[in-house]
Amino acid sequence: MLKPASIQFKETDIDLLAEVEGRVALLVAPDGSLDKAARRVNRLTKGAVARLVEVKAEAASTGQTFSLAFPVGMKAESVDVVFLPRRCTDVEARKAGAALGKIRSGAALTICAGSQKRASQLALGVALRDYSFNAHKAGEQEETRADVTLLVSKPEEFNHAAVTTQAIAEGVFFTRDLVNEPANVLTTTEFAKRIQDMSSLGLEVEVLEEADLKKLGMGALLSVGEGSESPSKVAIMQWNGGEKGEAPLALVGKGVVFDTGGISLKPAAGMEDMTMDMGGAGVVAGVMRTLAMRKAKANVVGLVGLVENMPSGRATRPGDVVTSMKGDTIEVINTDAEGRLVLCDVMHYAQERFKPQGMIDLATLTGAIIIGLGHEKAGVFSNNDKLCAQFLKAAEAEGEGAWRMPLGKAYADQLKSRIADLKNTGGRPAGSVTAAEFLHRFVQEDTPWIHLDIAGVASVKADTDYAPKGATGWGVMALNRLVQDMCEKAE
Ligand code: BES
Ligand code: MN
Ligand code: ZN
Repeated sequence: MLKPASIQFKETDIDLLAEVEGRVALLVAPDGSLDKAARRVNRLTKGAVARLVEVKAEAASTGQTFSLAFPVGMKAESVDVVFLPRRCTDVEARKAGAALGKIRSGAALTICAGSQKRASQLALGVALRDYSFNAHKAGEQEETRADVTLLVSKPEEFNHAAVTTQAIAEGVFFTRDLVNEPANVLTTTEFAKRIQDMSSLGLEVEVLEEADLKKLGMGALLSVGEGSESPSKVAIMQWNGGEKGEAPLALVGKGVVFDTGGISLKPAAGMEDMTMDMGGAGVVAGVMRTLAMRKAKANVVGLVGLVENMPSGRATRPGDVVTSMKGDTIEVINTDAEGRLVLCDVMHYAQERFKPQGMIDLATLTGAIIIGLGHEKAGVFSNNDKLCAQFLKAAEAEGEGAWRMPLGKAYADQLKSRIADLKNTGGRPAGSVTAAEFLHRFVQEDTPWIHLDIAGVASVKADTDYAPKGATGWGVMALNRLVQDMCEKAE
């Protein structure tokens, strides 16, 4: 696994700036005024910084970056000027950092952040954007990124933030690696192993095997993996950093390591993208990593259903009826609507065993959500306005797009079956909503619940603000913040 850049905060000593190697970044306010460090670099470079600012400041947008390559008077290979207001939001600072992360290309980076209060967000932006997945490219298996140093006036104020920042970046990288990994490498067994390895961080990890799942009655989940050589599993990660006895927040993830569609086989074109169909489980694992790494004072349990949806002589057929752990029978109209079959059993189990104070499931559940919201925002479905508002606020603060969608009885009625308690598809209209209503049926009356359909945002074909193309890690930061807001309160 690629380790994100390690971040250090040091006290600014402008007398050392001439000797800094790698890249030196300066923050310049939109009015073009230079702080102490920028003035020193300007003097060293014989006025180049002031000339750049004079030409660029007026039209520059927040976070935009301009580079002076191999500046005279300095050892650095580049001076990168970033336009950023002194008082900016977390997201603005992070995006400015991401712009630096994009251009650093392996060089050490020193950011002159002065008295910028959001310095740690700048660092996080650099770390998040400076990601690549080279596990399968010969000779390119980097283990670490070059350090990021922030020169600030009061480094001691950032000690706590540095730990959090590192934890977030590692959680996001962990999710991205899982989502990017091909399905012949990331089998259900390998996924469970990577989760198990997190017990070294203090997470309590259990893996339920097929025999256990059969005993529990998870007939819906098991029906999905029937056609695969890889055994179905449920992995459970507990982080108990909160008050003893306080009900946990439950995070449930769809972990379909590959989705061929099963007997209702998908068309060949684009099927390779279905390696990301474990994206929900990937986010759950990434959040748990972040919470453990920063020793969150909260009780959170992550549960992921790990299966592979393959056609074979043993695979579930369209028309088969399966029985969920809850007891409801399901007519499988389309074996490609498999995510809900996995989630309904894990969600039921999560509530029965953990009596959570809230439950959030994440899934690359429907193509229809991509038609509705594209790759900008995830679909948010909830039975609880308060929890939903809290989540939307957290997502907004982290710059992760999210948009609430409706639920309703009329949609649920689309799932009525002639021969069973319900069927697993509701037809083309409102495909994402009927999928959410399917899950809703397995949510207990008093459980505040959110379903996040992340099919459009888990992995994308163009660079985003925080990530190069491919897996984004969407949701790790929003959920981490939600845990902070909901469970950790004032410290
Ligand atoms: N994993 C897919 C959804 C998906 C599509 C994720 C595109 C990411 C990108 C899911 O299992 C699926 O196949 N859903 C079907 C449901 C339908 C058969 C009711 C879909 O969306 O077409
Ligand atoms: Mn499918
Ligand atoms: Zn799927």
